[in-house]
Amino acid sequence: MEWKLTVLCVCACLGTITAMQVTVTSEWKPDIGWELSCSWQLFSNDSLQSVRMYYNEQQFLIYRPEEDGDKRSGIYRRPEDMMTINCEETSDRGVTGTCELTMELYQPQKNSFTFACEASGERPTFRIERKAIVIEAFVPPTDAVVEVGSVNAESGRVMLNCTSSGVPAPNLVWTVGEQKVPRDFSGSFWNATSKLWHVWSVLSYTHSNEHPAVCTPETSKGSKVVQGEPAEYNSAGDVKDIKSILFAVLTSLLLLS
Ligand SMILES: *[C@@H]1O[C@H](CO)[C@@H](O)[C@H](O)[C@H]1NC(C)=O
Ligand SMILES: *[C@@H]1O[C@H](CO)[C@@H](O)[C@H](O)[C@H]1NC(C)=O
Ligand SMILES: *[C@@H]1O[C@H](CO)[C@@H](O)[C@H](O)[C@H]1NC(C)=O
Repeated sequence: MEWKLTVLCVCACLGTITAMQVTVTSEWKPDIGWELSCSWQLFSNDSLQSVRMYYNEQQFLIYRPEEDGDKRSGIYRRPEDMMTINCEETSDRGVTGTCELTMELYQPQKNSFTFACEASGERPTFRIERKAIVIEAFVPPTDAVVEVGSVNAESGRVMLNCTSSGVPAPNLVWTVGEQKVPRDFSGSFWNATSKLWHVWSVLSYTHSNEHPAVCTPETSKGSKVVQGEPAEYNSAGDVKDIKSILFAVLTSLLLLS
């Protein structure tokens, strides 16, 4: 660490770098989609010839300061998303700079994709550096929320509606004690505002039960299972991470039927 810091300092002080660098990042932005960025740093005696960006190995943008000036922005629309791009030199001759991309989703993201960025220095050497990242169609499940329906006094039954959101649509797993229990009914839809799959699952729970009902959101990522924070309801009617909202006349109708 210390050694690295020293090297960084020495390089900064001399105003040179020991390698050309390109960095790409991705971040999920709630209610928008993906925010991608590419930043570069050339040798300090070089100048920027071009920055190229690729979606699944297909070039969709080239920024060339010689033609575009020290900034370039653009908007690319597709049926599934809208990409807003801003590229900017942040030092003389484009030795450093950044392109920022916002990918607003209009449809659920189905597949992962590759985002690559390539910066090139000027003639005669045209030094090139390239980085690529894979953006998976994955957003971890949000914490479970359980809404409590009206209680049927006679049977001591209550309808619990558990919800969570994520990409792909999370599974909602109900357990009572150690036992997994099947839901009574469930549904899901893509929320065009949050850009996430919203899922819900209803369990009818009897108050005579000694164990609490726990709802855990789960999403598979490759061979791993990613869980959201569970929510719990117990027979005393105590709630943990539960919104005590009487959800709809529908529930009472269902209980009566
Ligand atoms: C620019 O700097 C690099 C690294 O310090 C060096 O290898 C290269 O020869 C220099 N190029 C010119 C044209 O001075
Ligand atoms: C459970 O909640 C979701 C909203 O989060 C709602 O769309 C669904 O209709 C509810 N289910 C029942 C049975 O009320
Ligand atoms: C969709 O998501 C937005 C924001 O994330 C939220 O405010 C809204 O209640 C959600 N709509 C439904 C129908 O769940």
